[in-house]
Amino acid sequence: MMKPNPALSTLSSRKLDSKNIMNITIGHVKDSDFDQLSQIYCDAYNSLNIGEQWDHASAQKLLRHLHKAQPDLFFVASCGEKIVGAITAIIKPWWDGNHLTDGELFVDPKSQSKGAGRLLIKALFAKAFDVYNAVSWDTFTHRVHEHPLSWYKKLGFKEIEQWVMIEGDVKKVLRNLK
Ligand SMILES: CC(C)(COP(=O)(O)OP(=O)(O)OC[C@H]1O[C@@H](n2cnc3c(N)ncnc32)[C@H](O)[C@@H]1OP(=O)(O)O)[C@@H](O)C(=O)NCCC(=O)NCCS
Repeated sequence: MMKPNPALSTLSSRKLDSKNIMNITIGHVKDSDFDQLSQIYCDAYNSLNIGEQWDHASAQKLLRHLHKAQPDLFFVASCGEKIVGAITAIIKPWWDGNHLTDGELFVDPKSQSKGAGRLLIKALFAKAFDVYNAVSWDTFTHRVHEHPLSWYKKLGFKEIEQWVMIEGDVKKVLRNLK
């Protein structure tokens, strides 16, 4: 019998004063959520100034692509009827077992620091462990601002010393291979 997933529960954030309490619930994404999620994705990343400029269409394409690849690991955080963020990642078999790879975590800038990010990671990790026996999430974050890398480290993530992310411009590499 499947155990109830404790991560899919309601939270009243412990840190907030009585004027600002958010009841956040975590659930599985629905097709009708993608419009709101695409807008939140744009707001979350465009405001960071890390060299990315998303629009509604490009954000929706990415989110639907990730959902198609791993529909059962796409969770949304809501406050009442309002969606405030989401998380998703893809299971990939690796030498030591299943890893979560790729993926996205984003929360509406107006709703950040209220516990949604923490609950989303908890939901993703709990299900990935229960269903796929996942051993880790290999993902990228930026180093332009201190947050969120310092937060990830506080949760137990670490930088991989042996690896560095590289990018090959297709036209340039093809020119170099002539
Ligand atoms: C990373 C992100 C998803 C965290 O979501 P969140 O809902 O704010 O997360 P939480 O409320 O659970 O807070 C996480 C912690 O970071 C802190 N924090 C949140 N935003 C912060 C900020 N802008 N600067 C410094 N600390 C911040 C919170 O106070 C909290 O601290 P605690 O662990 O001591 O309680 C959110 O900041 C975001 O969407 N950022 C833009 C997109 C992004 O960078 N995504 C991750 C890419 S890999």
